[in-house]
Amino acid sequence: MHQAAPKTTPLTVLLTLFLLTACSEAPVDTEVAAPAPPPSPYDTRITIREIMASLVDPHADAIWNSVRVVSDSNGITEYYPETDEEWLALRISAVSIIEGANALMMTGRKVAPPGAEGEFPEYEFTPEEVEVRLAADRQSWVGFAGTLQAAAVQLLDAIDSRDTDKLTEWGAHLDEACEACHSAYWYRAGI
Ligand code: HEC
Repeated sequence: MHQAAPKTTPLTVLLTLFLLTACSEAPVDTEVAAPAPPPSPYDTRITIREIMASLVDPHADAIWNSVRVVSDSNGITEYYPETDEEWLALRISAVSIIEGANALMMTGRKVAPPGAEGEFPEYEFTPEEVEVRLAADRQSWVGFAGTLQAAAVQLLDAIDSRDTDKLTEWGAHLDEACEACHSAYWYRAGI
């Protein structure tokens, strides 16, 4: 029985040697360019305008409306999220903004659908103008999206700990994050 082992050993050694040689003889050409990156798996057909209107804006509104002070004939009433359902809805909104910020950071996304015009061109840059500004400085854009995301991360924490003070505080920072990016890329200077 134990005769079988020595018989196979030389073959194995030979094969190993052959493989090692084959590997070491592979041409090493430092001039060869790195392979082209694979095409992006992301579908970026949804424009920045649509991400604002369908994702970022409605979820930000949900967060802002969750804490409010109403003054009417009944006096001043403060509203805060209370039920599990309300907190869960807010959680969905914070998560959506965190991921919406990732979507804003992706390359290859248009500002608005082709032919779409700006609503207030005297106050706001048109989509084409925003496109130019974006191409000129993507790094700041990613920074503004990151600030939006960081605010939403803090909001998620406030929601998970049901901390209404923190929810209010970071709701204000969320607003600042929107306005900072809009001022840099969308609003015309001097307004
Ligand atoms: C990283 C940059 C950036 C951030 C952050 C950002 N926005 Fe925007 N937003 C834009 C740009 C650019 C446009 C203009 C797109 C266009 O031409 O329609 C826009 C447009 C909008 C619009 C108009 C959409 C429409 O249908 O015309 C709304 C509403 C909006 N943003 C809300 C928000 C809110 C709310 C936040 C924060 C919670 C926010 N945005 C954060 C860049 C940003």
